[in-house]
Amino acid sequence: MDISIVGSGYVGLITAVGLASKGHNLVCIDVDKERVNSINRAEPPFFEEGLSEALRTHAGEEGNLRATLDYEEILGTQATFICVTTCSSSGKSADFRHVKQSTRTIGEVLRAKKDYHVVVTKSSVVPGTTEELVIPLLEETSQKSAGDGFGAGVNPEFLQESEALRCFLNSDRIVIGQFDRKSGDVMSDIYQDFAAPCLRMAIRTAEMIKFASNAFLATKISFINEVGNLCKQLGIDVYEVADGMGYDPRIGRSFLNAGIGFGGSCLPKDLEVLLHRFASLGESAPLLQGVMDVNTAQPLRLVELVRARLGDLKGKTLAVLGLAFKPGTDDLRNAPAVKIIRQLIQQGARVKAYDPRVMAKISEIFNGSLQCGQNVAETIAGSDAVLLLTEWDEFRDVTLYAGKTVIDGRRVLDPTEALRVCHSYEGVCW
Ligand code: UDX
Repeated sequence: MDISIVGSGYVGLITAVGLASKGHNLVCIDVDKERVNSINRAEPPFFEEGLSEALRTHAGEEGNLRATLDYEEILGTQATFICVTTCSSSGKSADFRHVKQSTRTIGEVLRAKKDYHVVVTKSSVVPGTTEELVIPLLEETSQKSAGDGFGAGVNPEFLQESEALRCFLNSDRIVIGQFDRKSGDVMSDIYQDFAAPCLRMAIRTAEMIKFASNAFLATKISFINEVGNLCKQLGIDVYEVADGMGYDPRIGRSFLNAGIGFGGSCLPKDLEVLLHRFASLGESAPLLQGVMDVNTAQPLRLVELVRARLGDLKGKTLAVLGLAFKPGTDDLRNAPAVKIIRQLIQQGARVKAYDPRVMAKISEIFNGSLQCGQNVAETIAGSDAVLLLTEWDEFRDVTLYAGKTVIDGRRVLDPTEALRVCHSYEGVCW
């Protein structure tokens, strides 16, 4: 099928490459000229495992994926996915400006189209948005009626950064929220070569599945962090507890890794948006509010541990290893490491940081008030304590930290070995 994707950010480009690898013809539409050129040169505009190889296969003259600035190219396709960002520039809250703007432009282009066309919201939008905002805007700008002039739907993504392509191609489920059967048929045709079950439902149900899934994952993490905080007081290893719980298939072991909490572009923002939706309807959400509160406090517990070890932080030199919100990505959005560093600097510490992927961005954020290391050894040399904030594999060799005071926010090290090798070692909740 000929498919257009509006927005070539994380979700848009992964979707485009994934669908291209299933034999569809893809055109990526973006307002950023640099990004468009970079895709056409088969150079990934951001780092993601496998993306570079996939672009080399599918982009370029002979390939079935190309990028353009021109929305009119929608006319040559049968379906359009809206994949524009719904994050504010800080990544901290939702911002539907881009969804509105791109929807308007898609509608204006569709005014000239004779054939049936389906518009699919893939950006994460709060339940109700496609029916209350996207479809009315499309109707207004295209001067056609949904279900008659065009089809509509929602197809949420469940991509995890650092393994997004694998997630896309091996989805657990494909969720299709359809305006009507005809729209849903086009969407399920797009996914006909995928092995995953295809679930078809009402549009707002599909939107809710995305938000409820992310809220549930966030709940698991805050739950285990809260349990971990108690375990630490009681001398119990929360990782052994999680392993023991995880054998129960009703619980499962995943997303029970205790630490400094969840970051990234999705879990914090989606939870915030959902809480806002509860509030706007006069509903309270004490459980999900608690999930958020635990996550806000968790990174600061690590700062408290540093203070407990070193006393006043003024003039102390702290080595921070790991900045990205999780390994395998260069993404700093809502990264607990950023919150922690901000606190440390506020309290007068000198911070030297190293991350295998994000050095340039971190100097921008801290505007010169932080030093950047070149590698682990050079970063930790002469420091009063080492803080492990992202679980990159290259940080896992315990011998790197011989004689050091180490505080681990992500269970990077095995505690028994670390206690043997380091001067002192403790985890945020173990
Ligand atoms: C998440 C969802 O997993 C994905 O389905 C959705 O489409 C987008 O949001 P992502 O943001 O890539 O994906 O990150 P994820 O792997 O879920 O991790 C989120 C955060 O939770 C990270 O900061 C991670 O370190 C933290 N986390 C995860 C924990 O603290 N403990 C865990 O057990 C798992």
